Amino acid sequence: QQGERTRLVEAHKVAAKFYAEQLDGAEAEIGRAFLAGRGFDQAAARHFGVGYSPAGWDHLTRFLRGRGFTDKELILSGLSQDGRRGPIDRFRGRLMWPIRDITGDVVGFGARKLRDDDNGPKYLNTPETPIYRKSHVLYGIDLAKKDIAKGNRAVVVEGYTDVMACHLAGVTTAIATCGTAFGGEHVKILRRLLMDNSRAKVIFTFDGDAAGQRAALRAFEDDQKFAAHTNIAVSPGGMDPCDLRLDKGDDAVRQLIEESTPLFEFALRSVVARHDVDTPEGQAAALEEAAPIVAHIKDSSIRHQYAVRLAGLLGILDTQFVVMRVGQL
Ligand code: GTP
Ligand code: MN
Ligand code: MN
Ligand code: MN
Ligand code: MN
Repeated sequence: QQGERTRLVEAHKVAAKFYAEQLDGAEAEIGRAFLAGRGFDQAAARHFGVGYSPAGWDHLTRFLRGRGFTDKELILSGLSQDGRRGPIDRFRGRLMWPIRDITGDVVGFGARKLRDDDNGPKYLNTPETPIYRKSHVLYGIDLAKKDIAKGNRAVVVEGYTDVMACHLAGVTTAIATCGTAFGGEHVKILRRLLMDNSRAKVIFTFDGDAAGQRAALRAFEDDQKFAAHTNIAVSPGGMDPCDLRLDKGDDAVRQLIEESTPLFEFALRSVVARHDVDTPEGQAAALEEAAPIVAHIKDSSIRHQYAVRLAGLLGILDTQFVVMRVGQL
């Protein structure tokens, strides 16, 4: 329904401005301190439209009512939720990142808690609404789309602060999923931007937690063509781009992206790292685990090269044996 979408987008536009203005108030000092501690100055916060949601029950709700939005619209938008005596603010006392769709419309928010004793998760997102589907949104896509298309390359990071850090460091193709794993719909969005498919590259960064890595690897399994154009960047000490920029500066962030590893190479190294390949038993176990990864590579020439590569990583001198084992699968 056209009218409904317009209304919900309008409510988000007003809310984003409201939150951004709140960031200058006395109550938001804790939010400004968080941003400063992450290496983001006022200009950076402005560029990304970061805001602050007041801690009271219904500041935004009342503000939006005053602007003519009905309670029904406020609930539908996800900006408000049902309270005991009518709608209350969903986001309270949090740092607010407006999430824009590819055309630049604000369709939702990512909200980080700022006090340890606050209840709720560290990050709270807009729920599924008529204009916000978490499997379809990529934070930063509005800012990154031009350079993604131009460079035929996208960088997928884990969080809002990582997108900010990357863009400020000059990696202007950075985007992130919002509180969900990277999936098939995200692939579709990137595919549309990455015109020259044969030379396209999607680079993923992980902060080192295994959950994030497994989630991303699953996305590739579904999409072989995509996998062949995927690289992984693992930062030293499991730092995410935001931490890396704070610790080592903009150059280190750019270098992290430049020195990424092709997905298959990364996957094989991960398997090998989990086994003791100094023993024949360890070599055999690692080979059984890694061989299917190689066997799934569709391009026969690349598949062969990775089989040879796997033999090297396992320290198996009889390369032909590994090639054969892969071929049997
Ligand atoms: P910061 O302290 O904000 O830098 O977080 P971090 O780097 O420790 O964040 P982490 O790597 O855990 O999270 C990265 C991204 O995952 C965030 O930007 C969120 O989008 C998402 N995320 C993390 N924690 C939660 C959570 O509790 N709920 C939801 N929905 N998303 C989360
Ligand atoms: Mn993580
Ligand atoms: Mn985490
Ligand atoms: Mn992180
Ligand atoms: Mn972080």
